[in-house]
Amino acid sequence: MNLSKFGKKFTRKAGITQLMDDLGAAMASGDMLMLGGGNPAHIPEVQDLFRERMMEILAEPKGFESMIGNYDGSRGNQAFVEALAELLRETFGWNITAKNIALTNGSQNAFFCLFNLFAGDMPDGSKKKILFPLTPEYIGYADAGLSDDFFIARKPSIELLDDGLFKYHVDFDALNIGDDIGAICVSRPTNPTGNVLTDAEIMELDAIAQERGIPFIIDNAYGTPFPDIIYTEAKPVWNSNTVVCMSLSKFGLPNLRTGIVIAREEIASAIADINGVMHLAPGGMGARMAIDMVRTGEIMKISQEIVQPFYKRKAFQTLKWFREELGDLPVRIHKPEGALFLWLWFQDLPITSAELYDRLKERNTLIIPGHHFFPGLENEYWQHKHECIRVTYAQDDAVVHEGVKVIADEIKKIYMNA
Ligand SMILES: Cc1ncc(COP(=O)(O)O)c(C=O)c1O
Repeated sequence: MNLSKFGKKFTRKAGITQLMDDLGAAMASGDMLMLGGGNPAHIPEVQDLFRERMMEILAEPKGFESMIGNYDGSRGNQAFVEALAELLRETFGWNITAKNIALTNGSQNAFFCLFNLFAGDMPDGSKKKILFPLTPEYIGYADAGLSDDFFIARKPSIELLDDGLFKYHVDFDALNIGDDIGAICVSRPTNPTGNVLTDAEIMELDAIAQERGIPFIIDNAYGTPFPDIIYTEAKPVWNSNTVVCMSLSKFGLPNLRTGIVIAREEIASAIADINGVMHLAPGGMGARMAIDMVRTGEIMKISQEIVQPFYKRKAFQTLKWFREELGDLPVRIHKPEGALFLWLWFQDLPITSAELYDRLKERNTLIIPGHHFFPGLENEYWQHKHECIRVTYAQDDAVVHEGVKVIADEIKKIYMNA
C-alpha cells in the first residue's frame, strides 16, 4: 500500500495500540484478571436508569424514529447543548450559552481536533507543540498529532505523604513556556494516577496560559459535575481562555461516544466545523439518553450519590488490600483523588515495569506498565517511568482483590531476589 505521511503515521502501530492488542489477545486466551483496561464499571443503578430512559424514548411518539433516523447539526443535538449550557451556568456561574458548546464522537475525538487546531505546522511556517505540564498523563493523547514531535511534557515534583502515599505536583520552576507552545493540556482527575491538580495549580496554569495567549485545555472526563469521580475538593474552572472537555463515557455511556467541548465561541464553532468535515455530525444517542437528566440536574445527583461513592469505595478498598498485601515493601501509591485507577510506584524496582507487566501476564493478571503514560517525555530517560504501574479498580471486587494478591506476591519475589 502506497501510504501518505498521514497514512504512515496513523497506521504505524503505536506502543499503546500494541499493548491494547496484547491485552485483548491475553483476555481472549483465558481467565485473566483484567486490571489493565479503562472501561468504566457497569453500575447497576445507573444502568437501570438508562434502561428506563430507553423505554421512555421507545414509548414516545416518533421518539425511537427520530433518535435513529435524524442527523443532528454539526455542533450536536441542539436541545442537549442548550440544556447543558443552562446547567453549567446555574451550577458554576459560567458565562456560557449553547454557542460555547460542541459535541464530539467521544472526548477522544475532541482532543484530536483541539490539539491539531492549536499545534503542528502554523501558517507562518513555525511549528507549535502541545505542552503537558505534568506527566504521567493520559496515554490517549500520545499519537493524536498530525505531525511528529508534536508534544512536549514536564516531569512533576513529587511530594511524599504519610502512610506510603505520594502526590505529583506541577514543577512550576521547570515549566518555562516558549513561543513554540500552542496550548497547555491537563487531565483532572488524571488518568493514570488519580491525581487532582490543586486549585492553586490550575489557577497558576490558567494565568500562565492567559499571559502567553494560548488556550488551557482541561480534560474533565472524570470530573465535576458529571461523572464526578473525584474524592477531594476541586473548584471547576472555565473562562474564555480555557477549553473544558467533558464526556458521558465514565457516567456510564462509553459506547454512545459523547464528548463535550466547552470553549469560547470561536473554538466551539471550529470544533463544529471539523465535525462537519469528518463526520457530518456527532452521533446523538448519548445526548438523547442524557438530556432529561441534564434538564432536571439529575445528572449531578446521580453522579454524586451513585457514581462517585461507587468508585470511591472501590478506590479505598483496593488501597487497603494493597497495604495489607505489600506490608513494608518500598512501594508508594499515588494519593487516590479520583478516576478509576491506582498508580503504584515501586521504588528502585530491580526490573522494569514492562518486565513486571510480562511476569504478571504469565500469572493471568493484566495491568498497564507505567512508561506508556509519559507522552511528550518519550526521549527523556527517567528511572521513575519504569518503576510504576496503573491498576484499574473498576472491575468486580473479587477480581480486583485477587489481582492485588498476585501483584503483591510477584513484587515480593522481585525485591527478595534482587
Ligand atoms: C483522561 C481521559 N480523557 C479522555 C478519555 C476519552 O474518553 P471518551 O472518548 O470515551 O470520552 C479517556 C478515556 O479513558 C480518559 O481517561
